[in-house]
Amino acid sequence: MESYLLEWLQLGVRWLHMIAGIAWIGASFYFVWLNNNVRRSDSDGDQRSPSESESFDGELHAIHGGGFYRVQRYALAPKELPHDLHWFKWEAYTTWLSGISLLVLVYYLNPQVYLIDTNVARLDSWAAIGIGVGFLIAGWVVYDLLQRSPLGRNQLAFGAVFFSLVIAASYYLCHTFGGRAAYLHIGAMLGTIMVGNVFFTIIPSQRELVNAKNEGRLPNKKFAEAAKNRSLHNNYITLPVLFIMISNHYPMTFSHEYNWAILGAISLGGALIRHWFNLRGQGKSAPWLWVVSVGVFIAIIWSTAPKRSAALRQAQGDASPVTFAQVDAIIGKHCRGCHAAAPTDAVFKIAPNGVKYDTPQQISAMAVKIKQRAVETNSMPFGNKTNMTQTERDLLGRWIDAGAKVN
Ligand code: HEC
Repeated sequence: MESYLLEWLQLGVRWLHMIAGIAWIGASFYFVWLNNNVRRSDSDGDQRSPSESESFDGELHAIHGGGFYRVQRYALAPKELPHDLHWFKWEAYTTWLSGISLLVLVYYLNPQVYLIDTNVARLDSWAAIGIGVGFLIAGWVVYDLLQRSPLGRNQLAFGAVFFSLVIAASYYLCHTFGGRAAYLHIGAMLGTIMVGNVFFTIIPSQRELVNAKNEGRLPNKKFAEAAKNRSLHNNYITLPVLFIMISNHYPMTFSHEYNWAILGAISLGGALIRHWFNLRGQGKSAPWLWVVSVGVFIAIIWSTAPKRSAALRQAQGDASPVTFAQVDAIIGKHCRGCHAAAPTDAVFKIAPNGVKYDTPQQISAMAVKIKQRAVETNSMPFGNKTNMTQTERDLLGRWIDAGAKVN
């Protein structure tokens, strides 16, 4: 009953996390686009009163849903601050708070299952949670210190150092946690940096704008500079973070032998595409960014492709047929604990993803997926909880290659 309710709780929090994330990233994409697309008011030949043209430096017309919209950007600030000035901050905070809750509900409540993979490292539950939380905090602290150091003034050098540190973190975590948890922690660490930027820099800078306005003085430039920098960083980090958040559905990434490098390469590809959009927004064309990015993706796809099992079989020089009885024994030992109508596993009380291997037909119908998860990648059994051996995986692979026959 408990684990059943926990599933519902996870569903609810995940739902919230996604909605808040869409609202946050959607709004920030929209404002980047807005800034790139508002036309200088003095160049469009519009007739406007002098006082108005003084205070606005651009405007934009749009059509969406039920009507036409006119958006104007102030050169500095409105004469009177409106009562209902909207701050975009709860989108970011809600995304982070729900994300951390999800991390606790999924990973920290069951570290033995979700964080620890004994094939990667044998850790004690609390040590694993400590490492996870430590990375979230350290990620922010290191990023913030670097950004405040002289390095922070050189965008390119900062980007290179930061990216190298993310790769190093990815390498370490992928050799400490199961691939799924390692990826998710890198994503959560980057997401924490993004929200940290909103909370500690961007919102205070906006507060300074408002205060300056209220006190009739010029806003302190230092705040605005830092906020602009960090908004830009958030902008580049967005695509990698979103990839990492969906990567859990794609074991060919997180459970690959070089999972840490795949994470780095895909993040780079994503950031380069973001860079192309940013340049395009400024009216610059840089098609080479797409070439490099697509090149990176093709290289990943090509180099991580599962080895042809026929070749593998030849290399092993073993072609004797595998019987269903052998397969059934392996599935019984390593899969049915979770994947059954009535699982016996201590944590998974409902067959995960509805996948059950109770009957021969159920097993053979799922042959392709079994191959993906237990032969080509080692992403099943979950966290290799049952210590499945390579010999057993090869047997499954040979049975499936021979047509997954039940008798
Ligand atoms: C400790 C529990 C556990 C064991 C043991 C286990 N699995 Fe899973 N399995 C899961 C969970 C949880 C998921 C859902 C998350 C995911 O897809 O990674 C899953 C998902 C899957 C999926 C994906 C289904 C889909 O809809 O895409 C396949 C296929 C699969 N398991 C096959 C296997 C095979 C084959 C074995 C045995 C070699 C096995 N599992 C052993 C927990 C387990």
